[in-house]
Amino acid sequence: MRLLVTGAAGYVGSRVAALAADLGHEVVGASRSAGMPLDVTDRAATEDLVDRVRPDAIVHCAYRQGDWATTATGAAHVAGGAATSGARLVLVSTDLVFSGTKDRYLESDPPDPICAYGAAKAAAETVVAQVCPSYAVVRSSLVLGEGDSAPEQFVHRLAHAQARGALYTDEVRYPVHVDDLAAALVEVAVGEAHEHVGVLHVAGSEAVTRYRIGELVAARDGLDPLTIPGGPRGAAPGPAEVVLDTERTQALLRTRLRPVSEFLR
Ligand SMILES: NC(=O)c1ccc[n+]([C@@H]2O[C@H](COP(=O)([O-])OP(=O)(O)OC[C@H]3O[C@@H](n4cnc5c(N)ncnc54)[C@H](OP(=O)(O)O)[C@@H]3O)[C@@H](O)[C@H]2O)c1
Repeated sequence: MRLLVTGAAGYVGSRVAALAADLGHEVVGASRSAGMPLDVTDRAATEDLVDRVRPDAIVHCAYRQGDWATTATGAAHVAGGAATSGARLVLVSTDLVFSGTKDRYLESDPPDPICAYGAAKAAAETVVAQVCPSYAVVRSSLVLGEGDSAPEQFVHRLAHAQARGALYTDEVRYPVHVDDLAAALVEVAVGEAHEHVGVLHVAGSEAVTRYRIGELVAARDGLDPLTIPGGPRGAAPGPAEVVLDTERTQALLRTRLRPVSEFLR
């Protein structure tokens, strides 16, 4: 199958593109800086690219923190292109579409964002669901890997006094390994779950604080844990904790979503 990956220069997009190519799919990666040139804020150019590539499916990873035009409006442009060309569209979304006031969130729960990023992603989810007959929204949580993710690199910079700040002792996340997320996205876009329409929750099952992630990274990478500062999040924007219920999604997918203590060690 032919797969278009937006944001293919990024952390998740590059892994999705590499995995899909390994599995024998024809992959076209696009972003502003690498692969096919694409600026999703440009509606005509985005629709033109989708029309030229004629993908069977699109995994839409491109986004920019704090930029509604890229994250929300850009998703609308990609959705328009997908709908016109008849491509399936998989939107990568986030647990931060929720406020965290409920104990846990099902795939069917409506977003109630309390931060700008979550609001932009909630808008993106809405337009994708309205415009594309074949779509999936994949909500994820914090994405980690083998030392190459931004949060893991931040732990190293803190340990070497190359960054200031602290890891929150009262902000809880449900990390997912980047390879598990990439495998799930490929499965949903062009694999066994390519006919599923709707929302999926692709997050880890294990709760950890940001500080605990720092401890796990330090232990894995031989850093002195005493050099990792911890502290309260105070008035940091967004929810302190969002629990995505992953039971239904895990039952649907072949990809196993490993808990953080299994892959961060
Ligand atoms: N990382 C996480 O912890 C996490 C958690 C939950 C959900 N997600 C979601 O996962 C997706 C991928 O995240 P990531 O961590 O891989 O982000 P990332 O590494 O920052 O990659 C973002 C990508 O978007 C591209 N991009 C930015 N503006 C663009 C534009 N106007 N047009 C086209 N491409 C543009 C960037 O490349 P250029 O700058 O070259 O264009 C880059 O390739 C996002 O949708 C994010 O919301 C991530």
